[in-house]
Amino acid sequence: MYSFSFIFATVLYRATVILAWSNKYNHVAVFSIDGFHSSDVGKYVTLRPNSTLARLLETGYEYTNAYTSAPSDSFPGAVAQFTGASPITTSVWYDDIWYRDYYPPFSVNGTHCQGPPGAEVGDTEDLDYNKTELFSGGINPANLPQKIVDGVCQEIYPHSRLRVNTIFELVESSGKQTAYADKHPAYDIVRGPSGKGLTVGYFPEINAVPTEINTTIAYDKLHVGAFLDWIDGKTPANSEIQGKGLTTTPSLFGGNFQAVSVAQKINGYTNSTVQNFTPPLIQAIDFVDNSLGQVVSALKAKKIYDDTLIIVASKHSQAPINPALYRKIDPALIAPATGVNVTWITSDDIALIFLEDQSQIDTAVANLQKATSELQIQDIIYGARQQALGFGNPFIDPAVPDIIIQVDLGVIYTTSTAKIEEHGGLSDDDRHVACIVSNPGLKKKVFDQETSTRQVGPTILKVLGLNPADLQGARIEGTRVLEGF
Ligand SMILES: *[C@@H]1O[C@H](CO)[C@@H](O)[C@H](O)[C@H]1NC(C)=O
Ligand SMILES: *[C@@H]1O[C@H](CO)[C@@H](O)[C@H](O)[C@H]1NC(C)=O
Ligand SMILES: *[C@@H]1O[C@H](CO)[C@@H](O)[C@H](O)[C@H]1NC(C)=O
Ligand SMILES: *[C@@H]1O[C@H](CO)[C@@H](O)[C@H](O)[C@H]1NC(C)=O
Ligand SMILES: *[C@@H]1O[C@H](CO)[C@@H](O)[C@H](O)[C@H]1NC(C)=O
Ligand SMILES: *[C@@H]1O[C@H](CO)[C@@H](O)[C@H](O)[C@H]1NC(C)=O
Repeated sequence: MYSFSFIFATVLYRATVILAWSNKYNHVAVFSIDGFHSSDVGKYVTLRPNSTLARLLETGYEYTNAYTSAPSDSFPGAVAQFTGASPITTSVWYDDIWYRDYYPPFSVNGTHCQGPPGAEVGDTEDLDYNKTELFSGGINPANLPQKIVDGVCQEIYPHSRLRVNTIFELVESSGKQTAYADKHPAYDIVRGPSGKGLTVGYFPEINAVPTEINTTIAYDKLHVGAFLDWIDGKTPANSEIQGKGLTTTPSLFGGNFQAVSVAQKINGYTNSTVQNFTPPLIQAIDFVDNSLGQVVSALKAKKIYDDTLIIVASKHSQAPINPALYRKIDPALIAPATGVNVTWITSDDIALIFLEDQSQIDTAVANLQKATSELQIQDIIYGARQQALGFGNPFIDPAVPDIIIQVDLGVIYTTSTAKIEEHGGLSDDDRHVACIVSNPGLKKKVFDQETSTRQVGPTILKVLGLNPADLQGARIEGTRVLEGF
């Protein structure tokens, strides 16, 4: 009796230890296939049953109901994963947006910022020394917006704009190494408010590359080269380096792929009852899949595949999937439709409106309601409902838009004829993203409950043996780790 329960207890103890161990890894590799929808995963794996994605899923978890941030632009989408938080908490609403308490570059006058407050803040190529060069020189401080901090007018780097810390910061401050690659030097933002979150940043400028599938694939190959160097513990040329750069395989590394997003915008899906991939889109996904295969091979060669959790979670997807729904509207029509003076409008497949005089919100909304068919508006979000939906209060938070326009699915506010899909909006096509977690020690499983990509951040901390509660944005919003962890 005694010996039986002793053995039983030992078995239980061992099982617990193994379970705890199996949830801990020395490395996390986190990738965004920008544009990749949740629905694309199944379509692709059916098309390519021997693909790397199919193999990752064989020993992985798929979150089939995962949503990225709202709005779903690249910056809020990336920041959601790395802070565990939404725009209302991070202040990062869009790649190119207005802040009522910022000033344009060169506003400094003594210690004060001169001119009226309010400025565009763009996390784009426009921050670079030379935006037409692939290695653009990084961020030129002369291009940065300014703000009064501690009574002094100063340039604000993207990382300083974040109101909460990032997982890169926490991993770095625990003495481990980190590396990240993305499409502009403005992805400095992932470093977090301390500015110290990256051992190595790798930010070739996408603006230097023509928006075309093969050139974008060539661009993405630079990122893949960096991923392979990092796995080998090397710092690639043209990196932004902290300290001595990498001395070993980073504990946390990741980056994005741009090719799928570009193929969606140019070619997209077939125009039929079932939306399949067009050939250029297949070419782009095959390229990304093959690249993930190279990452897996490199991890195996380094004998750390078992010890690496791979996460593939898109920072945004793309709308509309159905090309028959696509139509464009000139964004110049939005401001006049409000009937009041407008300071700033960010427009894609959404519009974020900042008014000159906030007391005119009701007037502007009443006028926009008369223009719902002209502007193909599905919803006008403002006032008490804006707050109830988690979109904040523009009267107390200088980063919150006064009015958010959700468009009918398929509408893009643009004059460009070059794109048939866009992201940034609030629709499922924009936000319902691929989200996969894989390691050879995991048992294949599908989680179909509603999931947020904000959960990626706290999960990464937990599996690296750090405390998810140290992630300020996740704590503020009560963001939990992903199911299964
Ligand atoms: C998949 O791989 C297996 C061997 O691993 C092979 O027999 C099969 O033909 C492959 N299928 C495709 C569609 O490539
Ligand atoms: C700069 O600041 C001084 C006072 O410190 C003020 O007199 C001057 O008008 C300011 N210049 C501008 C352009 O705001
Ligand atoms: C940026 O780089 C391009 C290509 O090298 C060059 O022609 C241009 O003069 C540069 N611009 C600036 C502002 O340095
Ligand atoms: C891209 O390259 C492939 C061959 O790799 C070619 O078939 C295709 O036409 C090219 N696409 C464009 C848009 O040039
Ligand atoms: C899709 O088909 C509709 C008609 O069914 C047509 O109006 C639209 O232009 C087509 N879109 C594309 C991208 O081919
Ligand atoms: C808009 O601004 C102009 C000055 O820039 C002003 O004359 C006009 O009265 C303003 N309109 C409204 C509706 O406030």
